[in-house]
Amino acid sequence: MYQMLKHAHSGIRWIVLILLILAIVNAYSKWKNRKDFTNGDKKKHLFAMVFCHIQLLIGLVLYPKSPMVSFADGFMKESVSRFYTVEHMSMMILAIILITFGYIRAKKKQDDSQKFKTTFIFYLLGLIVILAAIPWPFRFPGAGWF
Ligand code: HEM
Repeated sequence: MYQMLKHAHSGIRWIVLILLILAIVNAYSKWKNRKDFTNGDKKKHLFAMVFCHIQLLIGLVLYPKSPMVSFADGFMKESVSRFYTVEHMSMMILAIILITFGYIRAKKKQDDSQKFKTTFIFYLLGLIVILAAIPWPFRFPGAGWF
């Protein structure tokens, strides 16, 4: 069960990254070209947020089971345990809050170009935090690409 969830969590990162990039490019180009906000735009932005939430749920299940998470004495001095126990979890939660906040705020805007602008800004901030908080194999030898 743990192995399956770990692989799912690792692979879904790519879906999250692709959907976020698509939503950001969509929001930016339609904001700059003053396009109308359609149901298709809403779906693109929603889909990206939903996959972030799926990743959050899998992460919350993995957290108490993972051998990488440790509250043993001195875990904050050990970079790998500190990363998985504190940094990865808290930065990802922050990123997902930014994306969710952006989605809700954009929904409340009356003006279509403001909807795109809000989505663009908050999703881009969320993406930057996610990229910084992923355990890439070049930073953490042993972490996977998929
Ligand atoms: C968009 C959000 C997230 C992304 C893209 C993401 C991505 C990843 C990736 C790529 C790994 C490495 C998997 C591997 O090396 O095979 C990982 C590991 C892990 N993540 Fe996340 N994560 C996210 C959110 C979260 C959250 C919110 C939590 C906790 C609440 C969490 C908990 C963990 C844990 C505990 C591991 C270590 C699993 C293990 O090797 O035992 N993740 N995450």
